[in-house]
Amino acid sequence: DQGRLWGGRFEGGPADAMFALSKSTQFDWRLALHDIAGSRAHAKALRAAGLLTDGQAAAMDEGLAELARRVEAGELLPADSDEDVHGALERGLKDIVGPDLGGRIRAGRSRNDQIATLIRSYLREEIRLIAQDVDGVLTALASQAEKYLGAVMPGRTHLQSAQPILLSHHLLAHAWPLVRDVQRLHDLDERLAVSPYGSAALAGTSLGLSPELVAADLGFASSVPNSIDGTASRDLIAEAAFVLAQIGVDLSRLSEDVILWCTAEFGFATLDDAWSTGSSIMPQKKNPDVAELARGKAGRLIGNLTGLMATLKGLPLAYNRDLQEDKEPIFDGIDQLHVLIPAVAGMVGTLTFHPERMAEVAPKGFSLATDVADHLVRSGVPFAVAHEVAGETVRYCEAKGITLQDLEAADLPEISEHLDGGVLDVLTVEGSVASRDGRGGTAPVRVTEQLAELRAAQASL
Ligand code: ARG
Repeated sequence: DQGRLWGGRFEGGPADAMFALSKSTQFDWRLALHDIAGSRAHAKALRAAGLLTDGQAAAMDEGLAELARRVEAGELLPADSDEDVHGALERGLKDIVGPDLGGRIRAGRSRNDQIATLIRSYLREEIRLIAQDVDGVLTALASQAEKYLGAVMPGRTHLQSAQPILLSHHLLAHAWPLVRDVQRLHDLDERLAVSPYGSAALAGTSLGLSPELVAADLGFASSVPNSIDGTASRDLIAEAAFVLAQIGVDLSRLSEDVILWCTAEFGFATLDDAWSTGSSIMPQKKNPDVAELARGKAGRLIGNLTGLMATLKGLPLAYNRDLQEDKEPIFDGIDQLHVLIPAVAGMVGTLTFHPERMAEVAPKGFSLATDVADHLVRSGVPFAVAHEVAGETVRYCEAKGITLQDLEAADLPEISEHLDGGVLDVLTVEGSVASRDGRGGTAPVRVTEQLAELRAAQASL
């Protein structure tokens, strides 16, 4: 039976429902070109081991090149009777080089070491593209941070007014986790660069084939030290699923801010028309769908990770067919991020911020109270006392229906003997922001430095 790589010990073929369950071409066909690259490397190992003559090896390589061409041109597609990508490609190879030579390619390898290698090759390629996508979001955040340098906004903890900050500082706070995500992808790439080819079914190859040769040919740094681990482990796939999920979570948190900022109540930002959608009934609507889909897809990416880990947790060594279930979640994660990340970059890069509105809200909720306490500490008052006095100042203002900025010299003795006129000078949003000038702080001078640091980090990614 063409397209099925086993059968000798069976009297008949599989039942239809058995075959339907087993079949994986509908998702593993995307690995076809990686599989062919593996076969070309494997053919060289077969030749080096004396299992193919020079002439056979040359014909095999030409046949595999033609096979790749047919796959790329869409001339070879999986047939209904093909069990998986490996079977479909062997069928296609035999069509090109004939059944005798085509039937030699499978010596000394198993679909178990093949698939474990292909998924690594595939992920190495894809995570580089994901890293480039993420870089687009970093560029969008950095250019907005630069454009609005100096604009203040309310900083929040518990979503309550906390202390004034620079908008640029807040935007850059979303950039750093994404820098770490890209670093995670690079770290992962190093671990993925170890080839399982040559592990065969589980115990290694007996035909004198060189796993190192195949590894080098496929651009891996080395081959696995343990053939059982090579075929049975999927921790690297789970790690990839984690990084994809973390990227989703980081974009989701950024998106949640955008959603809040674009409400009438906040009024901090407006979405560009090209990156928002309307309502079929409410004519006034401009909805943050990109941000909402980012939030939604983060849930899906987390599901892919947890599903995969649940699949792995009870598996005895070595290969088990359960492992086939690693593919759809990781493919889905890659596909989702490829559509999502560029849209998030577009949305962020085209947001219009409203600095006047943010400046108006920045001192609300007594967000300068810490500045009162810090002023007292600078004039020698213990912080515990300063904290009390600042709290009393807030209570005084609240009772009088004024903000901290409205305080006048005459108010001070009524609140506390510790308050001197100097406190009135620090009670501005700009002064508060400028005073937080330690490394990593929100002072404009530090944020300017930080922006340069981010750009340097981005350039070294
Ligand atoms: N399709 C399988 C997978 O994705 C690889 C093939 C191994 N199948 C087998 N029956 N040994 O893991």
